[in-house]
Amino acid sequence: MSYQVDFEPLGRRLGVGRGVSILTAAQQAGVGLVSICGGKGTCGRCQVQVLEGQLSPLSETEAKNLTPDELASGYRLACQAEVLSDLRLHIPPHSLTATQRTQVEGRELTVPIVPVVVGCDFRLSPPTREDIRSDVDRMRDHLALLDYGDLIIDFAVLRQLSTQLREWGWSGTVGLRGREVVSFGPLGRKLLGLAVDLGTTKLAGYLVELQTGRTLAAAGAMNPQIAYGEDVMARIAYAMEGEEQAATLREAAVGAVNDLAHTLCTQSGHLPEEIVEAVVVGNTAMHHLFLGLPVRQLGLAPYLPAVSDALDLKAREVGLEIAPGGYVHLLPNIAGFVGTDHVAMILSTKIYEAEGTVLGLDIGTNTEVVLRAKGRLIACSTASGPAFEGAHIKDGMRAAEGAIERLRITASGVEYQTIGDAPAVGICGSGVLDAVAQLRQLGVLDERGNMGDHHRVRRTQHGPEFVLVAAGEGGNSGDVVITRGDVGEIQLAKGAIRAGINILLDEAGLSAQDIDQVIIAGAFGTYIDVSSAIVIGMFPPLALERFNQVGNAAGMGAKLALVSREQRARAAEVARQVEYIELTNDRRFVDEFARAMYLK
Ligand code: FES
Repeated sequence: MSYQVDFEPLGRRLGVGRGVSILTAAQQAGVGLVSICGGKGTCGRCQVQVLEGQLSPLSETEAKNLTPDELASGYRLACQAEVLSDLRLHIPPHSLTATQRTQVEGRELTVPIVPVVVGCDFRLSPPTREDIRSDVDRMRDHLALLDYGDLIIDFAVLRQLSTQLREWGWSGTVGLRGREVVSFGPLGRKLLGLAVDLGTTKLAGYLVELQTGRTLAAAGAMNPQIAYGEDVMARIAYAMEGEEQAATLREAAVGAVNDLAHTLCTQSGHLPEEIVEAVVVGNTAMHHLFLGLPVRQLGLAPYLPAVSDALDLKAREVGLEIAPGGYVHLLPNIAGFVGTDHVAMILSTKIYEAEGTVLGLDIGTNTEVVLRAKGRLIACSTASGPAFEGAHIKDGMRAAEGAIERLRITASGVEYQTIGDAPAVGICGSGVLDAVAQLRQLGVLDERGNMGDHHRVRRTQHGPEFVLVAAGEGGNSGDVVITRGDVGEIQLAKGAIRAGINILLDEAGLSAQDIDQVIIAGAFGTYIDVSSAIVIGMFPPLALERFNQVGNAAGMGAKLALVSREQRARAAEVARQVEYIELTNDRRFVDEFARAMYLK
């Protein structure tokens, strides 16, 4: 007897025999589930939610590893539960291995699609001896008949128009942005949009069909500016060295967006000139560096942006290689350290209209925190540093093949899972977070982060380190360790984040227990084990059901602004509504930060 198993939101479906475990079914369907214990039922990480269908009765192991709330919500452990009927399962992001989480992030948009640029197909009657109107008049008159009014034609479009009209037999598709013709292509050409989240460390890009809002391709890339400084302040300092340095950073950012656009187009069989509108979001420093705006005032107290308004600029003026008449739209930013990416995140998560008390975090090199409480939106930004990207961690690495992404320390050793199930070559941010949490729970680390004795702890001239994987174990070639210094890096990062959360709560006159929901955005935030983040005190100790890991919400917000005029207007309202707190001036910050560094 064979049953259909649907894995949502990945859209994978597979027929399996009765009694097969969900973990096996997932593996056969190419769904990468986290399974640190290898299916023994002890790690509790392979959670899936049953939406429809029947599974084997709850095992004792599951009852022990799942909370009453999780059980009530239909959660089961994939390695324990067996298929007894057709099934529809929801796979939460935290149960997916890194390689697959990006697919979940490509979810389709759910707003009415009303893009700023609309396409209009036309067929003109060719000129005759009696009809000697200019090419532009001919097209304008025709489009006026179709109710497109009095048109302005972009100069770059005008330059190509006459040749192309003849080449395409007096027919074509124009892209209209209000009254302006911004593109001209062969009849039936689809208009495309590009949404980019320009992060300090990474970029994420989406190619979208403007008419339908459908995502045609999604891709990520490293921000090449990293060669000139790891964090925002280092980049600003570099740009302040002179015009040449500022131009280098601008060209690096623009070049990276152009490369990403090419990659997306190659992936989906399109051409960059089919992109008629782009939306780029990023923190305020990335926004300014991308546009070539001065950043000196951003780097010096009181850290002011040059401009906070939304901007509509000709893409060619910025250096973007899309349709020559196309525009790039930049959402408004809020302050020197809370940029358009945060506005995009608030937009896509709808925190602005949430009932109750909702905390939103976009974790990155800078972590933006927003609190929706008592009808207010209060935000701050905190320098959490690049440790979560694996930087400044002895064996740290990006979330790439061979990185330990999840781990558990048991009496018998260290159980771990690597990205791509490859031999361990290092550890990425989510793995480091797990390691610190596990070592704290075992008592190997004290509250201050000092490392005590354990048979896996060795003392080196640089201080103590805990051996997670010894050379030769599991086919890896070298050791993977966590040092006292690594623990300190995580303490700094998580201390900054928790201090930001506490100050916003204080501002609203609330305590952590008043938080109804925590929304965690950003690639790193999606990968982490929330319970580890709670153990080390990065997040307040709330029931796990109150946490919602939503992936790249800034990228989603950029997509919304790309396909919906209403969402663009909403973004402007959100930016106006946010009350910003500058932590560097805040008298509470030093104490809160010092307290939040402890591993409580
Ligand atoms: Fe299912 Fe570990 S793989 S509990």
